Amino acid sequence: MAAKEFKRAARIILVGAPGVGKGTQAERLMKRFPQLSAVSSGDLLRNAVRNKTPLGQEAQLHMKSGSLVPDDMILRLILGELKAKSWVSPTTSLSDTAPSLPSDAPSASFILDGFPRTSVQAQKLNALIPINLVVSLITPVNIILGRIANRWVHAPSGRVYNTGFNKPKVKGKDDVTGEPLTKREDDGEETWRARLKKFEETSEPLLEHYERKGVLWRVEGKSSDEISPKLFGEFESRFC
Ligand code: AP5
Ligand code: MG
Repeated sequence: MAAKEFKRAARIILVGAPGVGKGTQAERLMKRFPQLSAVSSGDLLRNAVRNKTPLGQEAQLHMKSGSLVPDDMILRLILGELKAKSWVSPTTSLSDTAPSLPSDAPSASFILDGFPRTSVQAQKLNALIPINLVVSLITPVNIILGRIANRWVHAPSGRVYNTGFNKPKVKGKDDVTGEPLTKREDDGEETWRARLKKFEETSEPLLEHYERKGVLWRVEGKSSDEISPKLFGEFESRFC
C-alpha cells in the first residue's frame, strides 16, 4: 500500500509501561509512514553506555536498578538529538522558555519513544517544541511480563525481536545486519518490576499534563497487533 502524504507535521510521543510495545509501535509506524523517524531515549542511553561516555557511565547505574536517570541528564541528551535531526534550531537552549515556531512542514514529523517520562521533562519539552499527539499505550501487566522474557535486541540499532511473536529470520541474528542479538541488561524480572513501579509513580502526572493540553489519546489492547490498526487509524485521521 502506498504511503499516505501528511497534511501537517506529526509530533508524537509514546507513553506506556516498560515492555508495553513503544519500540514495536514506533517501528511499525515508521514502516507504514516512511516519512516518520523516531528517537528512543532508552536507545540513546544504551548507546551512551556502550560508548562509555561520561553520561553513559553515570546513566548505567540508574538504568541497572530500574530507576529513571536524572531529568537534567536526559534533557541534555534529547536536546542534542533534536538539534542533530534539525527538529529545533541549533541555538535552542534548555533555558529557553518558549519554542521558536516549529516548522509545520510534514517533513518535520517525528516520534519520541520513552521521552518525556516526568512532568518536569514534559514542561521543558513544551518550551523546546510543542507535541501534538500523546499516545498512551495500555496492556495488562501479566501479559507484558510474559513478553519480556522472550525479548532479544540488536543493540547497535535498537531493533526488537521476540522469540514468541516476532522471531528473527535466523535464530539469534539481526534480520538486517546478521549481527548477534543480545538481552538487555535491565530485562530481569526484578528490575522490570522496579521499572514498572517507577512508571506507575510518574505516568499519572505526565498524562494529566497532556490531557490538560488536549493532545492525549489512549489506546488499549492485549497485543501490539490489536493496537497497531487503531493507532494507524487515529494517526491518519489527524495527520493525513
Ligand atoms: P526504555 O528503553 O525506554 O525502556 P522502557 O520504557 O522500560 O520500555 P521498553 O523498551 O522495555 O519496552 P517497549 O515499550 O519499547 O516495548 P517493546 O516494543 O520492546 O528505558 C530504559 C531505561 O532508560 C529506563 O528504565 C530509565 O532508566 C532510562 N530512561 C529512558 N528514558 C528516560 C527518561 N525520559 N527519563 C529518565 N530515564 C529514562 O516490546 C516489549 C516486548 O514485547 C518485545 O520483545 C516485543 O517484541 C514484544 N511484543 C510486542 N508486541 C507483542 C505482541 N503483540 N505479542 C507478543 N509480544 C509482543
Ligand atoms: Mg523500548
